[in-house]
Amino acid sequence: MALMRLDKILSSTGEYSRSEAKSLIRSGLVMIGDRQARSGDEKADPEVTAVTVKGVRIGYAEHHYIMMNKPGGYLSATEDSRDKTVLELMEAKYRRLGLFPAGRLDKDTEGLLILTDDGDFCHNIITPGKKVPKIYYAEILGQLADIHVAAFEEGIVLGDGTKCRPGKLEILPDSQGKKCYITIEEGKFHQVKRMITACGCQVAYLKRVKIGGLAIDESLALGEYRELTDEEKNLVLTGRQV
Ligand code: URA
Repeated sequence: MALMRLDKILSSTGEYSRSEAKSLIRSGLVMIGDRQARSGDEKADPEVTAVTVKGVRIGYAEHHYIMMNKPGGYLSATEDSRDKTVLELMEAKYRRLGLFPAGRLDKDTEGLLILTDDGDFCHNIITPGKKVPKIYYAEILGQLADIHVAAFEEGIVLGDGTKCRPGKLEILPDSQGKKCYITIEEGKFHQVKRMITACGCQVAYLKRVKIGGLAIDESLALGEYRELTDEEKNLVLTGRQV
């Protein structure tokens, strides 16, 4: 890793605001190796030389990847003047990292949401041409049937005439056509709800359960979140067909 400014290294953890980082440096509490740092302009390679604050080594990461179990009632946005956003569910340390949702879920949709500050990673998830499947569990008003499975395979035509790419509809056995999994590789506005409407039914409940090869961690309660492991991060894009 290249040399980086000390203030950037400190702020990469989210633990300290810029002014806190400055004041820690001024107070002599930040060390670069065995030398006391004097200013945020100083440079270090945190992988080579330990940067410590009050004796504790900073674990530098260029980017951050978070899995959240999104609850209903929150917007997949970073800020909004009217509604609560998923960022408001996160502690200050994470709110300082410049995270944004990698793809949107509707306000009333629950389940797997990835938040990151890595634009390329986000692009790979949301661009339809990258073919990263998103899998949803849905409960339905009405009754889905085999003709709808075939229509999904063919590519559903939405009410406004837009033709979706082929998707997959799996109706759960013994659910009387009222529970299903839906797999799509696109993310058009309200896409799943509009696909189900095109089948003459309505979505009563929607939860995203998987992105690529990464399934929601069911031990996370609604509103809880955690960092992805490197292996999980890789799983997101490996569910993609190339
Ligand atoms: N499709 C929808 O209709 N809503 C979502 O939140 C996600 C996909």
